Amino acid sequence: MDPVTRAVAQQYSDYAYPKPIDDIGAHAAAGGMDLCDPALVGPLVWPEGPPRPDLDILVAGCGTQQAAWLAFTNPQARVVGVDLSSASLAHQRYLQDKHGLWNLELYEGDLREVGKLGRSFDLVVSTGVLHHLADPGEGLRALREVMRPDGAMTLMVYGATGRAGVYMLQDACRRLGLGQDAGGVAMVRAMLAALSPHHALQSYVARTRELAFDEAIVDTFLHPQDRAYTVPELLEWLEENGLAFQSWIDNSRYYPEAMIAEPVLSAVQSLPDREQWAVVEKLQGLQGIHMFTARHAGRAVPIGFSQPGWLDYRPRLQPGVVMKENGIVATRDVELGLNEGAAALVRAVNGIATISDILDSPAFAGSPRAAAESFAARVFDRLWKSGAVMFEAPRAGGRAGYERASRPPACRGWI
Ligand SMILES: C[S@@+](CC[C@H](N)C(=O)[O-])C[C@H]1O[C@@H](n2cnc3c(N)ncnc32)[C@H](O)[C@@H]1O
Repeated sequence: MDPVTRAVAQQYSDYAYPKPIDDIGAHAAAGGMDLCDPALVGPLVWPEGPPRPDLDILVAGCGTQQAAWLAFTNPQARVVGVDLSSASLAHQRYLQDKHGLWNLELYEGDLREVGKLGRSFDLVVSTGVLHHLADPGEGLRALREVMRPDGAMTLMVYGATGRAGVYMLQDACRRLGLGQDAGGVAMVRAMLAALSPHHALQSYVARTRELAFDEAIVDTFLHPQDRAYTVPELLEWLEENGLAFQSWIDNSRYYPEAMIAEPVLSAVQSLPDREQWAVVEKLQGLQGIHMFTARHAGRAVPIGFSQPGWLDYRPRLQPGVVMKENGIVATRDVELGLNEGAAALVRAVNGIATISDILDSPAFAGSPRAAAESFAARVFDRLWKSGAVMFEAPRAGGRAGYERASRPPACRGWI
């Protein structure tokens, strides 16, 4: 094992992460969710429909709970968890036994060697892991190698803008020679308590509840190896490793629609998508993580309202999004005011009707079709870019994994 991997493995043995939970069902009932879970965000992973109902899922760097969680919420799937940390895997085994998760297999090892399992996967989940490798691209390529041709990845890596203050404190900790022992943790806590009110880290600390736990203090400030990405760096990293970016898990953090007002809004909207994301990241300054889906090069299925087929999109509200009575759509981060027509469109979203079905419904019967379609395109485009809806986008002649008459995939615990 190389020195970096040894140090990373040692940390996650001493400080298993995330802080172990005792019961998945109870945690989910209290609002816990994994935003990479295909049971929750399936249409972001495979807009064209999942390749099969009994998915093979790899959770690379599964930590203390993620593989067990996905085995719990996707009972038809076979889930494989791989991690360097035996302490973390021991907790996954505890959750496996507690919940009877016989669809879960756990392996101690390096994700760069996952090919040795001789398996391939429909979905590869790796969150908070690849940025801890000395060469993150090496890990990404190893994961790509075991992803099936129509497979997908849901990934999370650190974002550079939201972590600028973290790296300042990490640098101070290194210069002070702080270790990952109780003394080092206490010193970090003392530094956080004495932070200037103008420090770049303040908003990060205010948004990060887990810093109450020593595991998170070590993971954030005393880590031996981490790096972060800007949007352009992230997209380049994917492409140079043979992958295609597909979509953000939460568009509201990348498109200007939800959080940016005129005249800046129109200026940003005039740019190509990738430039919009790069600018919004710099304007918000809050992106401590990037969570997104990726496919093999040439296999991404983009969502858009200037391409044919959007009337066949089947909209679904994103996890945690609710329509309030006063025409406000509340996402996890923002509230969007809707006019009456837009609110009627959102009320008709049930995960079964296509946009075309919705426009055929009595609520829109009196409207000229062309005008109704142009209105619907604008509203759903805004809702998509605000992180409020996602779409199943069956391709002509493609899979019908999301059956027209069926309910959204079963999701134990949340709905
Ligand atoms: C920050 S935790 C994230 C855990 C989990 N993915 C989650 O989101 O809850 C990072 C995990 O990745 C594991 N890890 C880091 N490098 C790894 C590698 N090269 N191979 C396998 N696991 C690794 C660590 O042991 C640790 O459990």
